[in-house]
Amino acid sequence: MVPDDACTERAPDDLGPGPWQRIGPVAALRFDPGAVVRVRGAEIAVFRLADRWVGVENSCPHAGAALADGDLRGDILSCLWHGWSFDLRTGRCTTFRDVAVRTWQVVERDGSLWIAPGPRATG
Ligand code: FES
Repeated sequence: MVPDDACTERAPDDLGPGPWQRIGPVAALRFDPGAVVRVRGAEIAVFRLADRWVGVENSCPHAGAALADGDLRGDILSCLWHGWSFDLRTGRCTTFRDVAVRTWQVVERDGSLWIAPGPRATG
């Protein structure tokens, strides 16, 4: 897990509204399929999708399993404990439509990942 104090440096200007925090080099993270990082006290599972990076809170809203350890197929992550599935692009649970996980924006710049809070999924 990458510690919470990864970096306080200024974010690249092209990232847009943040607040952005640098996670660290991609090469320093271990993806299986998600990599766990801690940002502002939150434990976040970071995933590399086909065309983007995403982050979600690393706790399944059903019973707290680590979503970083889930089964990732395309954009859909299935929790290993009881099979609830989540669309990582939105955070929405595809098993129960009124459930969602918090999402985080994740961007790579020059080999490093930056993270900022994402929009909350609505039912
Ligand atoms: S803890 Fe994730 S589906 Fe039950």
